[in-house]
Amino acid sequence: MQTIEVKTATGNHSKIFVGEDFTKLHNYLPSQKIVVIIDENIFDLYPDFFENYECIKIQASEKNKSLETVENIISQLINLRADRATFIVGVGGGITCDIAGFAASVYMRGVKFAFVSASLLSQVDASIGGKNGVNFDGFKNMIGTFNQPEFVICDTKMLANLPENEFIGGLSEIVKIALIKDAEMFDFIEHNAAEILSRDEKILQKLIVKSIQHKADIIQRDEFETGERRMLNFGHTLAHAIERNSDISHGFAVSAGMMFSAKISQHLGLISHNDVVRIKNLLTALGLPFSTNIDSKILFKTLINDKKKNNNEINFVLIKSIGTATKMRIKIDDFKNLISIFK
Ligand SMILES: NC(=O)c1ccc[n+]([C@@H]2O[C@H](COP(=O)([O-])OP(=O)(O)OC[C@H]3O[C@@H](n4cnc5c(N)ncnc54)[C@H](O)[C@@H]3O)[C@@H](O)[C@H]2O)c1
Ligand SMILES: [Zn+2]
Repeated sequence: MQTIEVKTATGNHSKIFVGEDFTKLHNYLPSQKIVVIIDENIFDLYPDFFENYECIKIQASEKNKSLETVENIISQLINLRADRATFIVGVGGGITCDIAGFAASVYMRGVKFAFVSASLLSQVDASIGGKNGVNFDGFKNMIGTFNQPEFVICDTKMLANLPENEFIGGLSEIVKIALIKDAEMFDFIEHNAAEILSRDEKILQKLIVKSIQHKADIIQRDEFETGERRMLNFGHTLAHAIERNSDISHGFAVSAGMMFSAKISQHLGLISHNDVVRIKNLLTALGLPFSTNIDSKILFKTLINDKKKNNNEINFVLIKSIGTATKMRIKIDDFKNLISIFK
Protein backbone atom coordinates (compact mmCIF):
# COMPACT_ATOMS: atom_id res chain seq x y z
CA MET A 1 0.00 0.00 0.00
CA GLN A 2 1.11 3.57 -0.68
CA THR A 3 -0.14 6.65 1.15
CA ILE A 4 -0.38 10.03 -0.57
CA GLU A 5 -1.18 13.14 1.46
CA VAL A 6 -3.08 16.11 0.09
CA LYS A 7 -2.38 19.22 2.18
CA THR A 8 -3.95 22.41 0.92
CA ALA A 9 -2.97 26.03 1.64
CA THR A 10 -6.18 26.48 3.64
CA GLY A 11 -5.14 23.70 6.01
CA ASN A 12 -7.34 20.97 4.56
CA HIS A 13 -5.80 17.57 4.79
CA SER A 14 -6.69 14.31 3.15
CA LYS A 15 -4.96 10.93 3.02
CA ILE A 16 -5.20 8.61 0.02
CA PHE A 17 -4.46 4.92 0.58
CA VAL A 18 -3.68 3.23 -2.74
CA GLY A 19 -3.73 -0.56 -2.72
CA GLU A 20 -5.46 -0.78 0.68
CA ASP A 21 -8.09 -3.49 1.13
CA PHE A 22 -11.52 -1.86 1.50
CA THR A 23 -12.43 -4.42 4.16
CA LYS A 24 -9.95 -2.59 6.42
CA LEU A 25 -12.27 0.43 6.32
CA HIS A 26 -13.05 0.17 10.06
CA ASN A 27 -9.36 0.82 10.87
CA TYR A 28 -9.69 4.34 9.50
CA LEU A 29 -13.12 5.29 10.82
CA PRO A 30 -13.65 7.52 13.83
CA SER A 31 -15.69 6.16 16.73
CA GLN A 32 -18.71 8.25 15.75
CA LYS A 33 -21.91 7.11 14.04
CA ILE A 34 -21.12 6.00 10.48
CA VAL A 35 -23.47 6.18 7.50
CA VAL A 36 -22.41 4.66 4.18
CA ILE A 37 -23.75 6.14 0.94
CA ILE A 38 -23.16 3.36 -1.56
CA ASP A 39 -23.63 2.60 -5.24
CA GLU A 40 -26.13 -0.28 -5.22
CA ASN A 41 -23.95 -2.20 -7.71
CA ILE A 42 -21.06 -2.16 -5.23
CA PHE A 43 -23.36 -3.15 -2.37
CA ASP A 44 -24.53 -6.13 -4.43
CA LEU A 45 -20.92 -7.19 -5.06
CA TYR A 46 -19.99 -7.12 -1.36
CA PRO A 47 -23.26 -7.46 0.62
CA ASP A 48 -21.69 -9.42 3.50
CA PHE A 49 -19.32 -6.56 4.24
CA PHE A 50 -21.57 -3.55 3.75
CA GLU A 51 -24.65 -4.92 5.52
CA ASN A 52 -22.70 -4.32 8.73
CA TYR A 53 -23.15 -0.58 8.15
CA GLU A 54 -26.19 1.69 7.98
CA CYS A 55 -26.36 2.14 4.21
CA ILE A 56 -28.10 4.57 1.89
CA LYS A 57 -28.07 2.96 -1.55
CA ILE A 58 -28.07 4.98 -4.75
CA GLN A 59 -28.24 4.10 -8.40
CA ALA A 60 -25.16 5.64 -10.05
CA SER A 61 -26.14 7.41 -13.27
CA GLU A 62 -25.58 10.94 -14.56
CA LYS A 63 -29.37 11.41 -14.48
CA ASN A 64 -29.42 10.55 -10.78
CA LYS A 65 -26.48 12.84 -10.06
CA SER A 66 -29.04 15.45 -9.10
CA LEU A 67 -30.37 17.64 -6.29
CA GLU A 68 -33.33 15.25 -6.08
CA THR A 69 -30.98 12.38 -5.15
CA VAL A 70 -29.28 14.64 -2.58
CA GLU A 71 -32.71 15.53 -1.08
CA ASN A 72 -33.50 11.84 -0.90
CA ILE A 73 -30.20 11.15 0.86
CA ILE A 74 -30.83 13.99 3.32
CA SER A 75 -34.28 12.58 4.17
CA GLN A 76 -32.69 9.20 4.84
CA LEU A 77 -29.94 10.79 6.96
CA ILE A 78 -32.63 12.46 9.06
CA ASN A 79 -34.50 9.13 9.40
CA LEU A 80 -31.24 7.50 10.50
CA ARG A 81 -30.87 10.28 13.11
CA ALA A 82 -27.56 11.38 11.66
CA ASP A 83 -26.26 14.46 13.49
CA ARG A 84 -23.27 16.79 13.12
CA ALA A 85 -20.95 14.16 14.61
CA THR A 86 -21.97 11.56 12.02
CA PHE A 87 -19.24 10.44 9.62
CA ILE A 88 -20.27 9.66 6.04
CA VAL A 89 -18.48 7.20 3.77
CA GLY A 90 -19.21 7.33 0.03
CA VAL A 91 -18.60 3.98 -1.63
CA GLY A 92 -18.56 3.74 -5.42
CA GLY A 93 -17.29 5.37 -8.58
CA GLY A 94 -17.09 9.06 -9.42
CA ILE A 95 -20.83 9.58 -9.50
CA THR A 96 -21.34 8.19 -6.00
CA CYS A 97 -18.30 10.02 -4.55
CA ASP A 98 -19.42 13.34 -6.09
CA ILE A 99 -22.95 12.92 -4.69
CA ALA A 100 -21.88 11.61 -1.27
CA GLY A 101 -19.23 14.33 -0.84
CA PHE A 102 -21.79 17.00 -1.70
CA ALA A 103 -24.50 15.56 0.58
CA ALA A 104 -21.95 15.36 3.43
CA SER A 105 -20.83 18.95 2.74
CA VAL A 106 -24.30 20.43 3.06
CA TYR A 107 -26.00 18.16 5.61
CA MET A 108 -26.30 20.20 8.82
CA ARG A 109 -23.79 22.66 7.28
CA GLY A 110 -21.30 19.88 6.71
CA VAL A 111 -20.21 16.63 8.33
CA LYS A 112 -16.92 14.81 7.90
CA PHE A 113 -16.66 12.24 5.14
CA ALA A 114 -14.41 9.77 3.33
CA PHE A 115 -14.55 7.58 0.23
CA VAL A 116 -13.98 4.00 -0.78
CA SER A 117 -13.23 4.75 -4.39
CA ALA A 118 -14.29 1.82 -6.56
CA SER A 119 -13.82 2.69 -10.24
CA LEU A 120 -10.55 3.45 -12.01
CA LEU A 121 -11.77 6.91 -13.01
CA SER A 122 -12.70 7.70 -9.47
CA GLN A 123 -9.43 6.35 -8.02
CA VAL A 124 -7.26 8.47 -10.31
CA ASP A 125 -9.46 11.53 -10.48
CA ALA A 126 -13.00 11.93 -9.15
CA SER A 127 -12.44 10.99 -5.50
CA ILE A 128 -9.25 13.06 -5.26
CA GLY A 129 -9.12 16.80 -4.75
CA GLY A 130 -12.30 17.76 -2.92
CA LYS A 131 -14.61 18.74 -5.77
CA ASN A 132 -18.08 17.44 -4.98
CA GLY A 133 -21.35 18.14 -6.68
CA VAL A 134 -24.29 17.27 -8.87
CA ASN A 135 -25.58 18.11 -12.34
CA PHE A 136 -28.33 20.65 -12.85
CA ASP A 137 -30.68 21.17 -15.76
CA GLY A 138 -28.47 19.09 -18.05
CA PHE A 139 -25.29 20.95 -17.10
CA LYS A 140 -22.52 18.85 -15.58
CA ASN A 141 -21.41 19.53 -11.99
CA MET A 142 -23.24 22.86 -11.91
CA ILE A 143 -23.84 22.78 -8.15
CA GLY A 144 -21.18 21.72 -5.69
CA THR A 145 -18.56 22.43 -3.08
CA PHE A 146 -14.83 22.29 -2.61
CA ASN A 147 -14.38 20.10 0.45
CA GLN A 148 -11.69 17.49 1.04
CA PRO A 149 -12.54 13.96 2.25
CA GLU A 150 -10.75 12.87 5.44
CA PHE A 151 -9.37 9.87 3.55
CA VAL A 152 -9.84 7.85 0.38
CA ILE A 153 -9.29 4.11 0.07
CA CYS A 154 -8.35 3.14 -3.50
CA ASP A 155 -8.54 -0.65 -3.42
CA THR A 156 -7.00 -1.77 -6.71
CA LYS A 157 -8.43 -5.30 -6.27
CA MET A 158 -11.94 -3.84 -6.65
CA LEU A 159 -11.02 -2.92 -10.24
CA ALA A 160 -11.14 -6.58 -11.27
CA ASN A 161 -14.97 -6.35 -11.25
CA LEU A 162 -15.16 -3.13 -13.23
CA PRO A 163 -16.96 -3.51 -16.60
CA GLU A 164 -14.51 -3.24 -19.52
CA ASN A 165 -15.84 0.07 -20.84
CA GLU A 166 -15.67 1.67 -17.41
CA PHE A 167 -12.10 0.46 -17.02
CA ILE A 168 -11.06 1.86 -20.40
CA GLY A 169 -12.85 5.14 -19.64
CA GLY A 170 -10.72 5.49 -16.50
CA LEU A 171 -7.55 5.10 -18.54
CA SER A 172 -8.48 8.30 -20.34
CA GLU A 173 -7.94 10.41 -17.17
CA ILE A 174 -4.58 8.68 -16.63
CA VAL A 175 -3.51 9.61 -20.16
CA LYS A 176 -4.75 13.16 -19.46
CA ILE A 177 -2.46 13.51 -16.44
CA ALA A 178 0.49 12.16 -18.46
CA LEU A 179 -0.23 14.59 -21.32
CA ILE A 180 -0.40 17.68 -19.11
CA LYS A 181 2.24 16.78 -16.52
CA ASP A 182 4.54 13.87 -17.23
CA ALA A 183 6.19 12.89 -20.52
CA GLU A 184 7.88 9.88 -18.91
CA MET A 185 4.53 8.61 -17.69
CA PHE A 186 3.21 8.93 -21.27
CA ASP A 187 6.16 6.79 -22.49
CA PHE A 188 5.45 4.27 -19.76
CA ILE A 189 1.80 3.96 -20.82
CA GLU A 190 2.87 3.55 -24.47
CA HIS A 191 5.25 0.74 -23.55
CA ASN A 192 2.83 -1.05 -21.25
CA ALA A 193 -0.50 -0.72 -23.05
CA ALA A 194 -1.04 -4.49 -23.23
CA GLU A 195 -0.27 -5.02 -19.53
CA ILE A 196 -2.52 -2.12 -18.62
CA LEU A 197 -5.40 -3.59 -20.62
CA SER A 198 -4.91 -6.95 -18.93
CA ARG A 199 -5.24 -5.04 -15.62
CA ASP A 200 -1.79 -5.97 -14.35
CA GLU A 201 -2.19 -4.87 -10.74
CA LYS A 202 1.39 -3.72 -10.21
CA ILE A 203 1.39 -1.53 -13.30
CA LEU A 204 -2.05 -0.15 -12.56
CA GLN A 205 -1.05 0.69 -9.01
CA LYS A 206 2.01 2.54 -10.29
CA LEU A 207 -0.13 4.60 -12.69
CA ILE A 208 -2.81 5.29 -10.07
CA VAL A 209 -0.18 6.50 -7.59
CA LYS A 210 1.47 8.73 -10.24
CA SER A 211 -1.88 10.20 -11.31
CA ILE A 212 -2.89 10.97 -7.73
CA GLN A 213 0.53 12.44 -6.89
CA HIS A 214 0.31 14.82 -9.85
CA LYS A 215 -3.26 15.81 -9.03
CA ALA A 216 -2.41 16.24 -5.33
CA ASP A 217 0.55 18.47 -6.24
CA ILE A 218 -1.64 20.73 -8.32
CA ILE A 219 -4.37 20.89 -5.67
CA GLN A 220 -1.89 21.76 -2.96
CA ARG A 221 -0.99 24.86 -4.96
CA ASP A 222 -4.47 25.70 -6.28
CA GLU A 223 -7.29 24.09 -4.30
CA PHE A 224 -10.06 26.34 -5.63
CA GLU A 225 -9.19 26.25 -9.34
CA THR A 226 -8.15 29.85 -9.80
CA GLY A 227 -5.17 28.98 -11.99
CA GLU A 228 -3.09 25.84 -12.36
CA ARG A 229 -5.92 23.44 -11.46
CA ARG A 230 -7.69 24.49 -14.67
CA MET A 231 -5.07 22.44 -16.53
CA LEU A 232 -6.90 19.35 -15.28
CA ASN A 233 -9.76 20.38 -17.55
CA PHE A 234 -7.63 19.38 -20.55
CA GLY A 235 -9.99 17.65 -22.99
CA HIS A 236 -13.02 18.45 -20.85
CA THR A 237 -14.45 21.45 -22.72
CA LEU A 238 -15.50 19.35 -25.69
CA ALA A 239 -16.08 16.30 -23.46
CA HIS A 240 -18.83 18.05 -21.50
CA ALA A 241 -20.56 19.05 -24.74
CA ILE A 242 -20.30 15.44 -25.98
CA GLU A 243 -21.71 14.11 -22.71
CA ARG A 244 -24.61 16.55 -22.80
CA ASN A 245 -25.60 15.39 -26.28
CA SER A 246 -25.09 11.62 -26.00
CA ASP A 247 -24.84 8.65 -23.66
CA ILE A 248 -21.07 8.54 -24.15
CA SER A 249 -19.38 8.06 -20.78
CA HIS A 250 -17.12 10.69 -19.20
CA GLY A 251 -13.81 8.93 -19.91
CA PHE A 252 -14.64 8.27 -23.57
CA ALA A 253 -15.83 11.84 -24.04
CA VAL A 254 -12.60 13.12 -22.44
CA SER A 255 -10.57 11.00 -24.84
CA ALA A 256 -12.24 12.59 -27.89
CA GLY A 257 -11.87 15.97 -26.18
CA MET A 258 -8.13 15.45 -25.61
CA MET A 259 -7.58 14.55 -29.25
CA PHE A 260 -9.51 17.68 -30.26
CA SER A 261 -7.27 19.80 -27.98
CA ALA A 262 -4.14 18.07 -29.30
CA LYS A 263 -5.11 18.85 -32.89
CA ILE A 264 -5.74 22.50 -31.99
CA SER A 265 -2.38 22.54 -30.20
CA GLN A 266 -0.76 21.42 -33.44
CA HIS A 267 -2.81 23.91 -35.47
CA LEU A 268 -1.47 26.70 -33.24
CA GLY A 269 2.11 25.50 -33.71
CA LEU A 270 2.56 24.20 -30.17
CA ILE A 271 3.10 20.49 -30.84
CA SER A 272 4.26 18.53 -33.86
CA HIS A 273 2.31 16.27 -36.20
CA ASN A 274 4.33 13.39 -34.74
CA ASP A 275 3.07 14.18 -31.24
CA VAL A 276 -0.52 14.17 -32.49
CA VAL A 277 0.06 10.78 -34.13
CA ARG A 278 1.58 9.41 -30.91
CA ILE A 279 -1.42 10.56 -28.90
CA LYS A 280 -3.88 9.12 -31.41
CA ASN A 281 -2.01 5.80 -31.50
CA LEU A 282 -1.98 5.54 -27.72
CA LEU A 283 -5.68 6.31 -27.35
CA THR A 284 -6.42 3.75 -30.07
CA ALA A 285 -4.21 1.11 -28.44
CA LEU A 286 -6.16 1.58 -25.20
CA GLY A 287 -9.51 1.24 -26.97
CA LEU A 288 -10.38 4.93 -26.53
CA PRO A 289 -12.06 7.14 -29.18
CA PHE A 290 -10.21 10.01 -30.85
CA SER A 291 -13.14 11.87 -32.38
CA THR A 292 -16.87 12.34 -32.10
CA ASN A 293 -19.54 12.07 -34.78
CA ILE A 294 -21.89 14.46 -32.98
CA ASP A 295 -22.76 17.36 -35.26
CA SER A 296 -20.38 20.29 -34.73
CA LYS A 297 -23.24 22.84 -34.67
CA ILE A 298 -24.87 20.95 -31.79
CA LEU A 299 -21.57 20.76 -29.91
CA PHE A 300 -20.94 24.45 -30.42
CA LYS A 301 -24.41 25.43 -29.24
CA THR A 302 -23.89 23.46 -26.05
CA LEU A 303 -20.45 24.95 -25.56
CA ILE A 304 -21.53 28.54 -25.69
CA ASN A 305 -23.94 27.82 -22.84
CA ASP A 306 -21.24 26.16 -20.78
CA LYS A 307 -20.18 27.64 -17.45
CA LYS A 308 -16.52 27.76 -18.52
CA LYS A 309 -17.26 30.48 -21.06
CA ASN A 310 -15.97 33.97 -20.13
CA ASN A 311 -17.58 36.84 -22.05
CA ASN A 312 -16.97 36.06 -25.71
CA GLU A 313 -14.07 33.74 -25.06
CA ILE A 314 -13.54 30.18 -23.93
CA ASN A 315 -10.79 29.23 -21.48
CA PHE A 316 -9.10 26.40 -23.25
CA VAL A 317 -6.30 24.06 -22.18
CA LEU A 318 -3.71 23.07 -24.80
CA ILE A 319 -0.44 21.18 -24.68
CA LYS A 320 2.93 22.76 -25.45
CA SER A 321 4.56 19.35 -25.62
CA ILE A 322 3.66 15.88 -24.40
CA GLY A 323 3.83 16.39 -20.63
CA THR A 324 3.33 20.18 -20.52
CA ALA A 325 0.04 22.07 -20.63
CA THR A 326 -0.79 25.70 -21.24
CA LYS A 327 -3.95 27.82 -21.18
CA MET A 328 -5.37 30.09 -23.82
CA ARG A 329 -8.50 32.16 -24.29
CA ILE A 330 -10.07 31.39 -27.63
CA LYS A 331 -12.71 33.65 -29.20
CA ILE A 332 -16.11 32.03 -29.52
CA ASP A 333 -16.25 32.64 -33.26
CA ASP A 334 -12.83 31.05 -33.80
CA PHE A 335 -13.92 28.16 -31.69
CA LYS A 336 -16.87 27.52 -33.97
CA ASN A 337 -14.48 26.92 -36.86
CA LEU A 338 -12.11 24.82 -34.78
CA ILE A 339 -14.93 22.47 -33.77
CA SER A 340 -16.10 22.00 -37.32
CA ILE A 341 -12.55 21.15 -38.45
CA PHE A 342 -11.07 19.20 -35.56
CA LYS A 343 -13.81 17.53 -33.46
N1 LIG B 1 -14.99 15.45 -8.54
C1 LIG B 1 -14.09 15.40 -9.48
O1 LIG B 1 -13.02 16.00 -9.36
C2 LIG B 1 -14.34 14.56 -10.70
C3 LIG B 1 -13.30 14.28 -11.58
C4 LIG B 1 -13.54 13.44 -12.66
C5 LIG B 1 -14.81 12.91 -12.85
N2 LIG B 1 -15.82 13.23 -11.97
C6 LIG B 1 -17.15 12.65 -12.14
O2 LIG B 1 -17.07 11.23 -12.03
C7 LIG B 1 -18.19 10.67 -12.70
C8 LIG B 1 -17.74 9.45 -13.48
O3 LIG B 1 -17.19 8.52 -12.59
P1 LIG B 1 -17.20 6.96 -12.89
O4 LIG B 1 -16.76 6.73 -14.27
O5 LIG B 1 -16.50 6.29 -11.78
O6 LIG B 1 -18.76 6.66 -12.91
P2 LIG B 1 -19.72 5.75 -11.99
O7 LIG B 1 -19.67 6.18 -10.58
O8 LIG B 1 -21.02 5.73 -12.65
O9 LIG B 1 -19.11 4.29 -12.12
C9 LIG B 1 -19.14 3.67 -13.37
C10 LIG B 1 -19.94 2.37 -13.39
O10 LIG B 1 -19.12 1.34 -12.90
C11 LIG B 1 -19.73 0.70 -11.79
N3 LIG B 1 -18.64 0.40 -10.86
C12 LIG B 1 -17.87 1.28 -10.20
N4 LIG B 1 -16.91 0.63 -9.53
C13 LIG B 1 -17.09 -0.68 -9.75
C14 LIG B 1 -16.39 -1.87 -9.34
N5 LIG B 1 -15.31 -1.81 -8.55
N6 LIG B 1 -16.85 -3.05 -9.77
C15 LIG B 1 -17.93 -3.13 -10.59
N7 LIG B 1 -18.62 -2.05 -11.02
C16 LIG B 1 -18.20 -0.85 -10.61
C17 LIG B 1 -20.77 1.66 -11.27
O11 LIG B 1 -21.82 0.99 -10.63
C18 LIG B 1 -21.20 2.36 -12.54
O12 LIG B 1 -22.18 1.58 -13.20
C19 LIG B 1 -18.75 11.76 -13.59
O13 LIG B 1 -20.00 12.16 -13.07
C20 LIG B 1 -17.74 12.89 -13.51
O14 LIG B 1 -18.32 14.15 -13.60
C21 LIG B 1 -15.59 14.01 -10.91
ZN1 LIG C 1 -12.73 14.10 -16.04
